[in-house]
Amino acid sequence: MKILLLGSGGREHALAWKIAQSSKCEKLYIAPGNAGTGNCGENVAIKADDFEALKDFALANNVDMVVVGPEDPLVKGIYDYFKADEKTKAIAVIGPSKAGATLEGSKDFAKGFMKRHGIPTAAYETFDGTTLSEGLKFLETLQAPYVLKADGLAAGKGVLILPTLAEAQREFREMLGGMFGNASAKVVIEEFLSGIECSVFVLTDGKNYKILPEAKDYKRIGEHDTGLNTGGMGSVSPVPFATPEWMQKVEERVIRPTVEGLAAENIDYKGFIFFGLINVKGEPMVIEYNCRMGDPETESVMLRLKSDIVDLFEGVAKGDLNQREIAFDERAAVSVMLVSGGYPQEYKKGFAISGLDKVKGSIVFHAGTAEKDGRIVTNGGRVIAVSSYGKNKEEALQKSFEEAQKIDFTGKYFRRDIGQDL
Ligand code: AMP
Ligand code: GLY
Repeated sequence: MKILLLGSGGREHALAWKIAQSSKCEKLYIAPGNAGTGNCGENVAIKADDFEALKDFALANNVDMVVVGPEDPLVKGIYDYFKADEKTKAIAVIGPSKAGATLEGSKDFAKGFMKRHGIPTAAYETFDGTTLSEGLKFLETLQAPYVLKADGLAAGKGVLILPTLAEAQREFREMLGGMFGNASAKVVIEEFLSGIECSVFVLTDGKNYKILPEAKDYKRIGEHDTGLNTGGMGSVSPVPFATPEWMQKVEERVIRPTVEGLAAENIDYKGFIFFGLINVKGEPMVIEYNCRMGDPETESVMLRLKSDIVDLFEGVAKGDLNQREIAFDERAAVSVMLVSGGYPQEYKKGFAISGLDKVKGSIVFHAGTAEKDGRIVTNGGRVIAVSSYGKNKEEALQKSFEEAQKIDFTGKYFRRDIGQDL
């Protein structure tokens, strides 16, 4: 198969690494990719949301399958775009339809979906400009802290957790007033849930599903979960509290009703579902859905997937995922993210990265890197994910921390406490 993978982050390098190992992959293209994905296949200078250029490229190069990494092209409807055209409709697209991607693209839709299908989640109400005063009153009925969510995509910044009613009411007004542009034209106010989070992933063909290894990610910039939120500073798989009993609850109460609910609502969904869960006193509750894999969870999860991922993708496309095998590596896998100084606020790009060739005990996934004049340079906030195996997470983390010391660039920073809370 000739495969075109879309995206340019650490998640995409990890997916490219896994896809390239498949005997079913004859040729891998990555659009646009980064300096690391170029080692797994051929980078193509097309943006992941330039549908027309992607279509032309896919046709000119006889691409059989498009694998979508990030949410943006999915929420914009790349699946529907390929399916609507006679010339491209036979190309398999791994990723949901635009309607399916609404699970991530609209918090209000996701909450309504969970309510319709009895999936455990925080109590909530949705408000817009016409119901502002009702929203202010609803906040008075809740207890601190207060959770406000912009309905639409807001680059991971659309959730505010406020300690006092006054702040919550002020921010609520600001959100409806356009704090996140159109994304906060509607705001979900929900009950605060207390517990540890865990990311669970499935691959579905719309009817059958396979559960992938779960992972925990570390979102804050500072050690011991302090400071600003980031795209993710590291990940660990497996997650100790995700025992077989807990995962059984997740499957029965969350995964199965979600896949069945999508089918019942006639929503075309062939791709990954990411369940952002929180463990509330032993009970899994859904915090959010994403219509793609997590980043940096993928940089651990791909290490633990033993099966041929292209075989699984083929099952997704053909609708016979139930006949495909999925096996996990029993070892632990972790990923530690090296980021640019200043991130997640302002930071500089273009610094030379040294020492990549000295790393022997870990797998290096590029996130924000580029090639410039034959050198690899920083090209984003999250720069390199250092992923490792170990007989347990401690051993894997020790390897990642050791190897992380060998890689250098101006302003390099990473969290040394990944996995310590588990
Ligand atoms: P989301 O974009 O919905 O994943 O929210 C971002 C982060 O906010 C989550 O990863 C949680 O840490 C936190 N969060 C979201 N909703 C809640 C909630 N109802 N209770 C507690 N924390 C939450
Ligand atoms: N690691 C969280 C995300 O990918 O959204």
